[in-house]
Amino acid sequence: MPGERLLVVDDDPGSLSYMSLALEQAGYSVRRATDGLSALVAIEGEPPALVVSDLQMPGMNGLDLLESIKQRWPQVLVIVTTVEEEVATIVEVVQRGAMNYLVKPVSPAVLRSAAAKALAHGATRTPAPLDACVPEMVGVSPAIVRVRQAVALASRSDVNVIVVGETGTGKELAARALHRLSSLAGGPFIPHNCAVTPPEMFDSEFFGHRRGAFTGADRDRAGILREAHGGVLFLDELECLGLANQAKLLRVLDDGEIRPVGSETSRPVSVRFVAATNRPPQAMLASRELREDLYYRLRGFQIEVPPLRDRSEDIVPLTDHILGGSRAGLTARAREALQICHWPGNIRQLRNVLRSANTVAGGGPIDIRHLDLSDCGQPETPRLSSTLPSGPLSPRTLHGVERQAIEHALRMHNGNLSRAAEALGIHRSTLRRKLREP
Ligand SMILES: Nc1ncnc2c1ncn2[C@@H]1O[C@H](COP(=O)(O)OP(=O)(O)OP(=O)(O)O)[C@@H](O)[C@H]1O
Ligand SMILES: [Mg+2]
Repeated sequence: MPGERLLVVDDDPGSLSYMSLALEQAGYSVRRATDGLSALVAIEGEPPALVVSDLQMPGMNGLDLLESIKQRWPQVLVIVTTVEEEVATIVEVVQRGAMNYLVKPVSPAVLRSAAAKALAHGATRTPAPLDACVPEMVGVSPAIVRVRQAVALASRSDVNVIVVGETGTGKELAARALHRLSSLAGGPFIPHNCAVTPPEMFDSEFFGHRRGAFTGADRDRAGILREAHGGVLFLDELECLGLANQAKLLRVLDDGEIRPVGSETSRPVSVRFVAATNRPPQAMLASRELREDLYYRLRGFQIEVPPLRDRSEDIVPLTDHILGGSRAGLTARAREALQICHWPGNIRQLRNVLRSANTVAGGGPIDIRHLDLSDCGQPETPRLSSTLPSGPLSPRTLHGVERQAIEHALRMHNGNLSRAAEALGIHRSTLRRKLREP
């Protein structure tokens, strides 16, 4: 609302006057400060409705200033401006209570619209956690909360994104959520798996072709870049894109235009790229399988989706989600077994195991005996906590402890080998072998 009091803080005189003028022209009453401390003094004198603060400043930086403002004047809204696009920094800025962040250089239109939005929201603000807008990524672990935050933040800008994670961790799910939340949500989301296109078909697949351009081209084809125009091109398995084709893709990113095979004219395309890979980009850069220039053009944001084995707290909510909230649920032993698996295929594998188990269990609670965990990397070490008597352990060697666990399990299950093996979390054949050992 014009007339409201704003404070702009920036150590760079050029930025300071440029941003202040842009806001004054929109009718705001703007004061200026060149560092964090003088900003605090100004706020103390008369708290503004909104502070627009630079992040990197000598002395008290933008993060410290933000923290002080939120402690002393929680009603004062803050927008942070930064030249940095590191997800970690941006997540921190938003977690510490900033309404928004803007990447410099900020155009006057973007600045004014962000100020207007912050002031409008601020009036009716019921603070919802940032990650709440990505409910499709189920989980409660701090790791998945960070992924949801990163997706939510990335969706607010239009930079390209790389999503890194093992197979089945939810990279495509993250990419689709990002598209859904972004300003391009009304545009297409075109997934393309780089592993399926033979390298020699790259041009036709990406740029399209004219009818008759080559043998078999019996009609015009738009190509996926054209199909994704005004939306998102999701490049899955980026690691499979060869160097020669990486160079061609880079040219599209630089020029923003494509020329279909067999055509004389180029056409502009506007596409946001979201690339996914299950290999750490740094390793691909080091082995020169990924061009550095392409990487930096794609990596406006990098989102890392951690493997399921590093967030076992997510198993229970994911199970509820996958089983569709069927209250029959899991027995404690089944839950424990799922939580100790290695899950090389991550959430996709968990889903497959649970769906088959649900069928086997006939709609009743899923027990460990219904789970086929043979490919899930289940450790063969017994879960001592659940199989040992609770008294102090007498044996001193690992072998002795194992032996005691086995004897205990057999006693508990009246010598039934299958049940004892289940309780120990090992296969029946493994238990048999262990029993034969001296
Ligand atoms: N956090 C999550 N909450 C709910 N479902 C999830 C979650 N993560 C992944 N999934 C589901 O797991 C399956 C695999 O996810 P997705 O296809 O996004 O994985 P991916 O990382 O792209 O795998 P790949 O590398 O093999 O292509 C999908 O059915 C997806 O909906
Ligand atoms: Mg995928």
